[in-house]
Amino acid sequence: MKIIRSPKILNALLTRRERKIKVGFVPTMGALHAGHLSLIERARKENDFLVVSIFVNPAQFGPREDLDKYPRPIKNDLALCRKAGVDIVFFPEPRLMYPEGFTTYVTVEKLSDLLCGASRPGHFRGVATVVSKFLNIVSPDTLYLGQKDAQQAIILKRMVSDLNFPVKVKVMPTVRSENGLAVSSRNAYLNSREIELAGVLWEALNRAGELIRGGNMDYQKIISEARKIIAARKGIAVDYFSIVNLDNLSRADNKNRRVLVALAVRINKTRLIDNLIVCRR
Ligand code: PAF
Repeated sequence: MKIIRSPKILNALLTRRERKIKVGFVPTMGALHAGHLSLIERARKENDFLVVSIFVNPAQFGPREDLDKYPRPIKNDLALCRKAGVDIVFFPEPRLMYPEGFTTYVTVEKLSDLLCGASRPGHFRGVATVVSKFLNIVSPDTLYLGQKDAQQAIILKRMVSDLNFPVKVKVMPTVRSENGLAVSSRNAYLNSREIELAGVLWEALNRAGELIRGGNMDYQKIISEARKIIAARKGIAVDYFSIVNLDNLSRADNKNRRVLVALAVRINKTRLIDNLIVCRR
């Protein structure tokens, strides 16, 4: 396994590759967990060559967010990548990704302002910018993303299509702990009581899913029932609990057969997101 820190070197290595070689790419911010490993495993199976990036992208953090405290267990991450058969770990230095004078950003309009975008202004601009850079540096055949970050996946699919990036996007299912909590690098901030508490998010999503599948289309009522389930456990502040259209993240109406039930909450200072795609009968 090679560890490459320079975008230029990686770019030179991969753009000169033979056409036949299929390259899979898994972008991460490190602190790898079972969710990342499921993407890596899938990408390993489906490609001849596998690149994983580990980069805590400063451009997607707001001024009062957790950039400095974001976990960076690089030794362990590299060991996991080696074990999983990764060919190249791209672990760029921030100054090489964002050199002095950097002023070009990618914005996927509208979609980036909704849901998480409303409380994290600039976040998806940072994500779209860094992923565009990765796609140009790596030129993968397939980009692997996790469904846990549903809005991110929708935005990046839109960007790939709008900007004609020649890459296929695959979105893989969320990996969950025993109590249903979606695995996430930020779960490392939670203590055992908070992890137990966070299990209620999956319960609330499932209750909403059950009602929608059962034919209930009063989404406001469903949202308020789901919020009550969360409120019954003290210590969770809900940022949003929404039922939206999968294509444009607008409020779902009765015409949408498949909807995204999505939430973001805070437990103490930790922000958690989760979602469920539901198909109406
Ligand atoms: O999902 C993440 O970990 C990040 O947003 C990504 C896609 C690696 C971009 O920094």
